[in-house]
Parts: sequence; structure tokens; C-alpha cells
Amino acid sequence: MGELKPKKVSDSAVNDHIYKVFPNDLNSYDTVFGGLVMATLDRVALVVAERHSGRTCVTASVDALHFLVPAKRGDILIFKGAINRVWRTSMEVGLKVLSQHYSTGELKHICSAYFTFVAMDESGQSVEVPGIIPETSLEKRRYEEAEIRRNRRKQEKEEKLIRREKWKSL
Ligand SMILES: CC(C)(COP(=O)(O)OP(=O)(O)OC[C@H]1O[C@@H](n2cnc3c(N)ncnc32)[C@H](O)[C@@H]1OP(=O)(O)O)[C@@H](O)C(=O)NCCC(=O)NCCS
Repeated sequence: MGELKPKKVSDSAVNDHIYKVFPNDLNSYDTVFGGLVMATLDRVALVVAERHSGRTCVTASVDALHFLVPAKRGDILIFKGAINRVWRTSMEVGLKVLSQHYSTGELKHICSAYFTFVAMDESGQSVEVPGIIPETSLEKRRYEEAEIRRNRRKQEKEEKLIRREKWKSL
């Protein structure tokens, strides 16, 4: 990783970004609008990636996102995000969203997500990022698993590019 000094996961992690759900955050089914959660995830993940790299970053991809249970009116959404692994110019940020009931305090796991960001330099070229130091057993497990997801993403991107070429030739 060149001469860039590696950083700890905790140096860039977002531990509890809070969002209070109001009535205008709901879909027609009266649960939280998924697009709101997705946009907030992207923002939180971007902050993690830019803190780690010290660079402007762009979202390269988002792995499949599954909403496990709905969040509701009045709930408190809690967003957590941290770097799982970095490669040369890209970083995987893992995120989790919990909802907390405002009076009982009950916590629900709404969704987890993996965002990949690429760090950019002033001329718009992808640029090397500092290494990451996983310290806890959880961080080490996430670090190992991230490589498997990266390989899957690479394969998916290749398949999409092949499909795009096929469409172009029709
Ligand atoms: C993401 C982007 C910079 C990658 O550009 P590229 O020319 O394909 O980049 P390269 O092939 O040189 O790869 C650069 C890094 O990006 C990673 N990357 C590229 N596409 C990726 C994808 N779909 N998912 C995850 N990582 C990806 C590569 O693995 C590489 O990582 P590494 O240096 O750590 O090994 C480019 O596709 C882009 O600008 N996309 C649009 C981003 C954007 O606008 N996002 C907001 C959406 S509106």
C-alpha cells in the first residue's frame, strides 16, 4: 500500500448516526420509505470512506440490500458503518440499520448493506488509499469475508459489461 500510513477501523467508523422518523418519512403503507434509508446509508458510508481515505470518494457499487423488517412512525433509526477492507483504490464499507421504539427502547434489525467506494484525486483518477488495521475478532472476520464479496462483485460487473455489449449489438 505504498507509503500511506494504515489506519484503524475505529478511526473512521460511524457508531450511531440517529434519524428520528416523522410522518413525512413514510410510504403509502405507513412504514418508513426504503429510499430514505438507502440515501442515508450512502451518506453514512461515504463519510466513513472519506474519513479513511482523506479523499473525495464515489460509490462504485452496492451489494443486494434486503429490508428484513419495517421501521415505523416515531421510531429512531440508528445507522452504524465501518470499513471492512480496502484494496488499492477501493474500500468496502459495511453498514447496519437498527430501529428503536421511542418508548419501549426495543431494537429491531432493519437491514445490513455493503457499499464499495473508490477514492478520486483532483484530476478525477482513482487513487491509492491507506491500508486498514482490523483489531477486534469481529473486524478480522469482516476483513476476511470482504474478499469473498469483492470476487463476487468483480464477476457480477463482468457479466453486466458483457450483457451491455450484447444489447449494443442488437
Ligand atoms: C467507480 C469507478 C470510478 C471505477 O472506475 P473504473 O475505470 O472501472 O476503475 P478501475 O477499473 O480502474 O478500478 C478502480 C477500482 O474500482 C473498483 N471497482 C470498479 N468497479 C467496481 C464495482 N462495480 N464494484 C466494486 N468495485 C469496483 C476496482 O476493483 C478498483 O479497485 P482497486 O483499485 O481497489 O483494486 C467508475 O466506474 C465510476 O466513476 N463510476 C460512477 C461512480 C458514480 O458516479 N457514483 C455515483 C452514482 S450516481
